[in-house]
Amino acid sequence: MEQKAERPVVLAIETSCDETAAAVVEEKEKAISVLAAAVASQVDVHRLTGGIVPEAAAREHVGVIRPLIEKVMRHGGKKGRELSAVAVTVGPGLAPALSVGLTAARTLAFIWKKPIIPVNHLEGHVYSALLAGAGKAQSPISNFQFPNDDAFPLLALVVSGGHTVLVEMAGHLQYKVLGSTRDDAAGEAFDKVARLLGLPYPGGSQLSQLARRGDPRAFSFSRPMLRSGDLDFSFSGLKTEVMYTVRGTDSASLKARRADIAAGFQQAVVETLVRKTESALRRSGKKRYRLLLLAGGVAANEALRGGMKAMSGEMNIPLQSAPPALCGDNAIMIGQAAVFAWRQGRLTDWRRLDVSARLSIENPLSNLS
Ligand code: KG4
Ligand code: ZN
Repeated sequence: MEQKAERPVVLAIETSCDETAAAVVEEKEKAISVLAAAVASQVDVHRLTGGIVPEAAAREHVGVIRPLIEKVMRHGGKKGRELSAVAVTVGPGLAPALSVGLTAARTLAFIWKKPIIPVNHLEGHVYSALLAGAGKAQSPISNFQFPNDDAFPLLALVVSGGHTVLVEMAGHLQYKVLGSTRDDAAGEAFDKVARLLGLPYPGGSQLSQLARRGDPRAFSFSRPMLRSGDLDFSFSGLKTEVMYTVRGTDSASLKARRADIAAGFQQAVVETLVRKTESALRRSGKKRYRLLLLAGGVAANEALRGGMKAMSGEMNIPLQSAPPALCGDNAIMIGQAAVFAWRQGRLTDWRRLDVSARLSIENPLSNLS
C-alpha cells in the first residue's frame, strides 16, 4: 500500500456494541491530537433487559449518531471538506450495531467525497494503550505521543466484554493472535457473576467495588486453563463455579458473603490473566518483547492493573495500560488506530465495505470485497 505523507484529520465513528462514539483527531508532529470526542452510552436501556439485545442497540445508535457526529465536528472546529478521511469500526461486534456506524460513515464519505479508513475494534483498544505513554496520566481529550520505534515487537492483552485475547505485534498494524477465550470473555464473566450477586448490568465495575470490601481468600475458585499448555482462556466454568457457590449459600448469609465471593472471583480472573500473560512473555524469551500493553473495558479494573504491574516488574518489561477513561469503548481509540492505518495507505471507497461481526484482528481488511 502507498505511504501517505500528509498529516490526516480524521472523523472516527464507533458503534460496535452499546456505546455510540465519535471523535475528531488530527496527526501532529509525532503525536495525535484529539480535537473533540463524545460517547453516548446505552447502559440504561440494556439494564432493563439485563443484557444487550442487538436490535435494541442498533435502534439506540440510530437515534443518537447524527447529533453526536455534528457535535464533535462543531467542537472540533472542522467542516467535512477539511477532513482527510472518515474512520469507522467495521468489526468485530454486533452486526446490526456495526451497520449503523458504517452506514453513517459511508454516507458522510459519499457526501464529502472522502475515503474511509476501516478499523478493527480490537486494534482500536490496542492503540489506546500503545499511545498512552509509559506511566503518564493523560486526560481523554489530549495529545498522545507516538510510541518509540523500538516498541516492537510487543505483547498486548485485550480484555473486554466481548474479547479476551493475547496479541503479538511485530510492527504497526501487524498482529498475530497467540491465544483467546474459548467461551466467555473476561468482561462477560464479570457481568454474569455481578448479576448472580444482584448487581445491575453491566456489573463489572460494581463487582470490583464490592470486591474491595471482601477477602479474596475466603473462597478458593479455580484458575482456569493455567495448565492447558497453550495461551487460550476459558471463563465459563469459573462462572458456573460461582453460580453453584451462590446457590449453595442461603440468602441470609449470602448478603454477608457477597463481597468475599466478588473478591474471590475477581482474584481468580486476575491471576489467570496475569499468569497467562506471563507465560506468553516467557515463551518468547523475556528479552523478545519490548513492551506489554493492557487494554479493553476490563483493563479499568484496579486489581488487574496492579497484578499486571507487579508481574511486568518481575519480568522486567515496561507496561503501558490504556488510560482508565479510554478502557471502555470510545472513538478516540478508533481515531488513534486510523492515523496509523492512514499512514500505511489503508483507505477505501465508500462502496467497498461491509461489517463483519467476527472480524479477526489478524486481517483487519478481510471484509473488503
Ligand atoms: O471494551 P468494552 O467497553 O466493550 C467491549 O468491547 O466489550 O468492555 C466492557 C466490559 C464489560 O464487560 C464491563 O463490565 C467490563 O468491561 N468492565 C470491568 C470494569 N469496568 C468495565 N470489568 C471489571 N472491572 C472493572 N472495573
Ligand atoms: Zn471494546
